[in-house]
Order: sequence, then C-alpha cells, then structure tokens
Amino acid sequence: MEKAEIGLIGLGTMGSNLALNIAEKGHRIAVFNRTPARTQAFVESAGALRDMVVPCASIEELTDAIRPPRPVIIMVLAGTPVDEQIAALRGVMSANDIIIDAGNANFRDTMRRFKELEGSGLTFIGMGVSGGEEGARHGPSIMVGGTPESYQRVEGVLTAISAKFKGEPCAAWLGTDGAGHFVKTIHNGIEYADMQMIAEIYGILRDGLGMRPKEIAPVFAGWNKGRLESYLIEITASVLEADDPKTGRPVVDIILDRAGQKGTGKWSVIEAQQLGIPATAIEAAVAARVLSSMKDERLAAEKAYGANALKFAGDRGDVLGDLELALFAGKIAAYAQGFAVMAGASKEFGWNLPMPTIAKIWRAGCIIRSQFLDTIAEAFGKADPSTNLLMVPAFVEMMGKAHPSLRRIVARAAEAGLPVPALSSALAYFDGYRQGRGSTDLTQAQRDFFGAHGFERIDAPGAFHGPWGSGAA
Ligand code: 6PG
Repeated sequence: MEKAEIGLIGLGTMGSNLALNIAEKGHRIAVFNRTPARTQAFVESAGALRDMVVPCASIEELTDAIRPPRPVIIMVLAGTPVDEQIAALRGVMSANDIIIDAGNANFRDTMRRFKELEGSGLTFIGMGVSGGEEGARHGPSIMVGGTPESYQRVEGVLTAISAKFKGEPCAAWLGTDGAGHFVKTIHNGIEYADMQMIAEIYGILRDGLGMRPKEIAPVFAGWNKGRLESYLIEITASVLEADDPKTGRPVVDIILDRAGQKGTGKWSVIEAQQLGIPATAIEAAVAARVLSSMKDERLAAEKAYGANALKFAGDRGDVLGDLELALFAGKIAAYAQGFAVMAGASKEFGWNLPMPTIAKIWRAGCIIRSQFLDTIAEAFGKADPSTNLLMVPAFVEMMGKAHPSLRRIVARAAEAGLPVPALSSALAYFDGYRQGRGSTDLTQAQRDFFGAHGFERIDAPGAFHGPWGSGAA
C-alpha cells in the first residue's frame, strides 16, 4: 500500500478533525489512538475519506506506515501525556523523523523537549493550532516552531489544511524551538483580552442600559459589519440570539457567570512579567475570570455593599457609538501589548519573529481572526516590527480618534459601579504610555529615601542621592 504522508496520534475531537482535514486535502494519513475503539470509530466516521486513512493498532505500525522522514503529529492533552508519547516514539523512530506537538503546550516545555531530543537524530516541531473543532476540520491557523528543514518536510500538508485569507495560507514557520507555541500562547492571551472586553461592553449594555439579549444581539451584529468585524463579535451576536430549549429564556441568561480557563492566558501574563513588558489588558482578563469563579464570595459581597444599580443616562444612540469606539480603542491597546510581548520574547529567545506574518496567519482560521489583523499586517509591513503598535502611524490615527470614547465609557462605568477591568487597564496603559512625564519621579525618590537606591537627574548624567538627612533609612 502507498505510504502515508504523515501520522497522527490522539483521535480526540481536535485530533480526529485535523486527521480528516489532512485526508480531505489528499494526504494519506496514518492514525493511532491508545484506545483501539476510538480508532475504529474514527475510521467509521471517515466516510468517503476512508481510503486516505491508515488505521494502526500500535505505534510501530504507525511509524512503519509513513514515508520517511516520518512526521507524526501528537494531539493529546498538554503536559505529561506529550512526554509519554515522545518517549514511546523515540523507541520506534529513526534519524530525521519529526515529532510534532500540536497541542496547547507551554513553550517552555517545548524548548525542554527540543533540548531532550538533541543528539537523538529526531527533530521536533512545536505547533500552535487555533480555530477550535471547526478550524481543525476545515482550516485552522497554524503557528510553527522548529528547524526550517523539518518545516520543509511538512509545509505542503500544513499549508493545504490551513485556513486561507484571500487565498493566502494561514500557516507559517515562525522561528526555532518554542516560537510557534509561544505565539499561540500570546494568541490566546489576546483572545482572553478580546473576550473580556466584549463581555464588559455586554455588561454595560445589559446593566447600564437595561437591554435584553435579543436587543443586544443586533448591536453586535451591526458592529460586525464595521471596524470591529471579527469572529468573536460575530459569535457574540449569535450567542445573544439563542434561546435555552429547556426554559425558553435567552441561553446567556441561564449560564452561570463563572469562567473557566486552561492556562494559556495565565502563561501569557507570566511571560510578559518575566520579559518586563506590560500586558495589563490580558492580565485584567485573566484576573476577571478568576474573580468570576468566586461566585459565592461575590454574592456575599453584593449583599454587604449593595448591587451596582446606576443606569447610564443620556441618548442611547450616543452611548452605543461610544461603546463601539471604546471597544475598538481597548482592542488596539490589547493587541499593542500582545505584539510587544512577542517582540520582547523574540529578542530574548533569538527567534526573530516575523510580526507581519503572524498578523497575516491570524487573519483567518483562528479564534481572534478579524479584519483588524489585516490592518495590523499591513501596518507592520511598513514599520519596524519591534515598534509598539500604538506608534505605527495608521494606529496613531485610529487610536487618536477612538480613545476619547474609551475614556468616557470607562468613566461612566466607574460611576455606575460596573466593572470594566480590561477596558480600564487598556486605557491606563495608553495614558501611561503617552505621558511624557509620569509620576515615578516620586517612586524613585522614595526608593532612594528608604533604600539609598539612587536616582537619575533630568539635568545631569549619573546616579544621585537625595537630601533626605536623618529621616532616611
Ligand atoms: C484556539 C483556542 C483554543 C481553546 C483555548 C481556550 O485558539 O483555538 O484558543 O486553544 O479554545 O484553549 O482556552 P481556555 O479554556 O483557557 O479559555
């Protein structure tokens, strides 16, 4: 039988969908799952694609079925299961074979795995895949980290199965070792910020303007035709339209307001902190999910302090206009932070991350896909990609027009007692970023006062101490 082009281990939802996508694009694929019943079920679900699938009963059978050098995608839970699969594959693979981890791995694990495989003759690819189940089946965005040679072996398959933006594949090699998984992590960090800011705007529409889900849905649907056009805004409108079959109520009204998370948002924030790059909107989004999980405490606090009751006054049309621009301004700041973190990591880890390419492969397939990313791709194509997005000319103009709305919305939400942590962090970041003279002169004075840490002067180079006298520590 003709050898398979590629192999895949782990036929969960994402793995199965990715395998079917690969088969559908004309690439024979060998598959293996620890539970044979799942392999069987997968084969049965393959339908017309059955001939493109080689079901394997063991990992040896799987590697035997693939054309060398043999690429094998691992699509299992991040963490120990990945290490277990790598250990198993090491026993049966030979020189130049390629292990591809397509899960949501922590890029530090990916870097460690690269090191561990050094000298074994095998190569490793850390591959971020975004787009959920639908994306995996019909076209995800694919972020690859590894050696350029190993990418060459799989480029054909990956570009074929990826989403396309105006015909351009949303798959690319981004750098060595952990680059792909790092970029996927920041994608998710931005996803958290995007989602949180949308939720905050929804909260204002619901509680500040007293609108029902069915009234809010067309607002988002309308915004989806303009500058906010994106997958997340589109699904927000769909979610708000949906009714709960059991109660007939809007489904959003019967969902418990306790958000889950699997870790990628938190990793983004940890890495941003490690790199010393502010990512406050992402941080606020992660914290908001954590706070949301403290449902009982929140209910008790609402009793103790009273509910946030103030409504937004004024003309609804004006408020809606401001909300749209506020969300746009918040989005600019959040993306500026995400890209700045990637620029910092690129330097730190020597990846030379191609920012315009990253923006390009996020234009379709992934969860944060949007028109906006096309604007970013174009802007970065003209500017030095280490420039903060807020300083790229096209964005200076857009943010200049949008930030007054963000300011008004954050101020009004604060007055009404409605929490907008991501939007207000975005605003504070912007205001701090564009303030030529800040107030950390005082912080420096205090540090010197109690710890003799020294400070710089505005009028002479060097390190100085203040005239603190006997009160100083
Ligand atoms: C994607 C998603 C995907 C997944 C996240 C959700 O890009 O396809 O980001 O990776 O949905 O893991 O993360 P949380 O469970 O942490 O919200």
